[in-house]
Amino acid sequence: MSTKFKNPRARFNFQGRTCSITGVGSYVPARILTNADLEKMVDTSDEWITSRTGIKERRVAAKNEFTSDMAVKAAQRAMKMAGVTAEQLDLVVVATITPDMPFPATACLVQQKLGARRAAAFDLEAACSGFIYGLEVGQQFIMSRTYDTVLVIGAEKLSSIVNWNDRNTCVLFGDGAGAAVLQNRPNAHGLLTAVMGADGGKANLLFMPGGGSRCPATLETVTGRLHYLQMEGRETFKSAVQAMCTAAQEALRRCEVDISKIKCIIPHQANRRIIDAVGERLGAAPHQLFINVNRYGNTSAASVAIALDEAVASGKIHRGDLILLIVFGAGLTWGAAVIEW
Ligand code: UT7
Repeated sequence: MSTKFKNPRARFNFQGRTCSITGVGSYVPARILTNADLEKMVDTSDEWITSRTGIKERRVAAKNEFTSDMAVKAAQRAMKMAGVTAEQLDLVVVATITPDMPFPATACLVQQKLGARRAAAFDLEAACSGFIYGLEVGQQFIMSRTYDTVLVIGAEKLSSIVNWNDRNTCVLFGDGAGAAVLQNRPNAHGLLTAVMGADGGKANLLFMPGGGSRCPATLETVTGRLHYLQMEGRETFKSAVQAMCTAAQEALRRCEVDISKIKCIIPHQANRRIIDAVGERLGAAPHQLFINVNRYGNTSAASVAIALDEAVASGKIHRGDLILLIVFGAGLTWGAAVIEW
């Protein structure tokens, strides 16, 4: 066994295999909903939204544009960068809380739209943490020699489960998708480690009560607005900062990397104040943090996937750079990943 790190949970270059991210891509819908637009819909203000969240605008998918459509567009861009055809994909994983339908899996719809006939496909539900959960799942399949090429997508149409009359939540979320192609590359750069965590004891902080086996859709659940997401903002905020810091520190410890050596930190884009607090507690310099929450709001599982693609496209990340992804979401769930680009 040849591992670069003493800690075996940093699996870089394990037995000659590396889980490399060979392509990234993202897609956001064309329609922009600004804070000024929201001022006309609910009792809010650009000043409140900007100062409390850092969000200026978010994207909203068209009526006939579904999570699978956005996922496919992001995936095609990632596959183009990787130089991978649909036929080459062994597995498609879609992380989402807004699938096209309760079943079948959105990943199956994406597999069909891409023409990835050889690929297995399933959805993964870890809310805003879904993309890192997906990276870790993909890495496991690659390192175990089960698959060589895995497509991981985070995609959400959150506008379909947002209560547009609730100012506490409707200003926060947006739609979009991000994707990554993971491939086995012998002795190459790649995913060093991924940390995942969960606490179901705090499931009540952020959830959608209706539509599952506990509360199937009825006239009462619709009139009771149970098919919209609900959030205890202040408590979620506190848990987010704490969990994101703990996960990031664990990921860095496993790889024996100091925060100062990280070129780009890509935190879940839920709230600018959360990002700043996490950066400060980790001892990161502001220039290390990648931020696009101002343009997209919180896109849940798509959030760090879109940001990773934008960081690469903008030239902020170069070959050999160390990158830290940090996520947090409903569940509660959280995670962090260190990547050598
Ligand atoms: O992706 C999963 C993770 N998600 C998160 O991590 C989100 C975490 N939470 C947050 O980002 C913040 O808690 C919020 C942005 C949701 C809220 O910010 P806050 O500083 O925690 O505000 P708050 O909940 O303490 O509310 C302050 C006040 C309340 O009024 P009262 O009760 O003090 O009179 C709210 O009713 O702000 C009011 N408020 C608003 N006012 C204008 C809430 N939403 C709005 C709004 N416009 N959109």
